[in-house]
Formats: sequence, C-alpha cells, structure tokens
Amino acid sequence: MGKEKLVAVAGKGGTGKTTFTALMLRYLVENFKDKDILAVDADPNANLNEAMGVEVKETISMALDDIKDFRKVPQGMTKDMFMEMRVNQALVETEQIDLLVMGNPHGPGCYCYPNDLLKKFLEKLRVNYDVVAVDNEAGLEHLSRRIIDDLDVLIITSDATARGVRSAGRVYEIVRTLGIKVNKVYLLISRAGEDTARVLAGEIEKTGLELLGAIPQDDLVVEFDLQGRPLFQLPADAPAMQAVSGIMRRLDI
Ligand SMILES: Nc1ncnc2c1ncn2[C@@H]1O[C@H](COP(=O)(O)OP(=O)(O)O)[C@@H](O)[C@H]1O
Ligand SMILES: [Mg+2]
Repeated sequence: MGKEKLVAVAGKGGTGKTTFTALMLRYLVENFKDKDILAVDADPNANLNEAMGVEVKETISMALDDIKDFRKVPQGMTKDMFMEMRVNQALVETEQIDLLVMGNPHGPGCYCYPNDLLKKFLEKLRVNYDVVAVDNEAGLEHLSRRIIDDLDVLIITSDATARGVRSAGRVYEIVRTLGIKVNKVYLLISRAGEDTARVLAGEIEKTGLELLGAIPQDDLVVEFDLQGRPLFQLPADAPAMQAVSGIMRRLDI
C-alpha cells in the first residue's frame, strides 16, 4: 500500500457525516499545506462538494453507465483505458484537494459489473495522496464491495440520542460482520449538548465503540446550511470548527 492515510466517515443520514468530513478537510488544508488530499463522496445523496464550495459535473456512476454501453467506448480503446479516462475527467481538482463523487447508481446492482475495474483504479489513484477522506452512507455500499478497502480510521457518526448511538452500534456490527479491514473505529456524536456524552455513556459502552468526541450544536452551521454557503468558509472560532480541530489533533492524520 501507499503512504496515504485512509479515513472514512459513515453513519445514518443526517448524523453529521458531511459536516464533519468538510470540516476535517478544512482543518487539514489549514494546518498541513504540504499534504495532498483526495476527498471521495461515496454517499448517493452526494453533497460534500457543496460543503466544499466546489462544482461537480461528472460522477463515477455516470462514467460507469457509459462504460456499460459499448457504443460509447471509442474504437481502439479498451474498457480499462476508457474507465481511466472517464474517472480522471470526474476528478475535480482544487488547489490542495481533489474530489471524486461516486454518484447515484441508477439501476440495482449498477456497481457490480465494473467493480473490479473501479477498485483497481482507486487503488492506483489513492497512492498519489497523503490523505484520502471518504464520506460514506450507512449502507456501506463501497466498503462492503471492497471498492475502498484497508481503512486506517473509520468514524461512525451518531446524532445526540440513545437511538442514534444504537444505530451507530449496528453500523459497527455490519463492519465487523463484513470483515472490513480497518485499523481503528470510533464513534462521533454530532449536534451534542453539554451533557450528551455523560448521559449517553451507558449506550456508548454497549456499542463497544470508542468515543472520539462530540461536535456541539452550532447555530452557524445551521445558518450556513440555510443560506447554502460552503462550510469551508465557517469562521475558525465557530464551535463546530473548534471541536473538529481538537478531534483532528488527537487523531494524528
Ligand atoms: N454541529 C452541528 N450543528 C448544527 N447543525 C449541524 C451540525 N452538524 C450537522 N448539522 C446539520 O445537520 C444536518 C445533517 O448534517 P450532514 O452533515 O449533512 O449529515 P449527513 O452527511 O450525515 O447526512 C445538516 O442540515 C447540517 O447542517
Ligand atoms: Mg452527507
């Protein structure tokens, strides 16, 4: 494997995955100017690009759809070559972060056929980066298909409720059942109040997950969301940004 650190964020919809991923990326950009970063939006409900303030025109799903349709593969090109070309087109390059959006598979099992092709390509791509950050969905589609494998850190997000923590525990169970290769798995609670970690301590313990930290409910995050402003522009002293900075210092990424 390459030099890169692979960090994935997973959890139920609405539990702060994209918010955390965006703020983590922002922390890395501000503190490690020399790190090359690949961000992968693997949630079908993709919106990491909006949090980053980046426009995306092509997704991996769109490329895969075209590859399946042999008429779209130019003559003289193998499927591998066409795939590589299309995926490179889908890669949005910014100054320090490149963004790849997996997109929404249109039909059932849409990823199945080109699975190996995509896996091979991503394995080749990721070694070019110091950090790879993946914003997943709760179903763990790409992790279960081993399209993205060998994680250094998996962060499972939960909202600040007992039910949310139990649900994060079930995601952890899936990770173990699937035998996903991951070095360290943590729980992250989003939109937390002052007392949340203490009140939920019993539930957290039952999951077997180590609590990485809690991001406080931050009205600025709500306001940015309301106005459609990228979270990359959140002020450094915003409570959510402060919390993510603290977490990142502990994570050593
Ligand atoms: N710390 C926070 N404070 C306030 N609102 C938050 C916070 N984290 C997330 N949110 C809001 O909660 C909603 C879901 O967050 P999001 O990061 O999009 O979740 P996911 O990616 O898991 O679906 C969004 O409207 C977001 O603005
Ligand atoms: Mg999201």
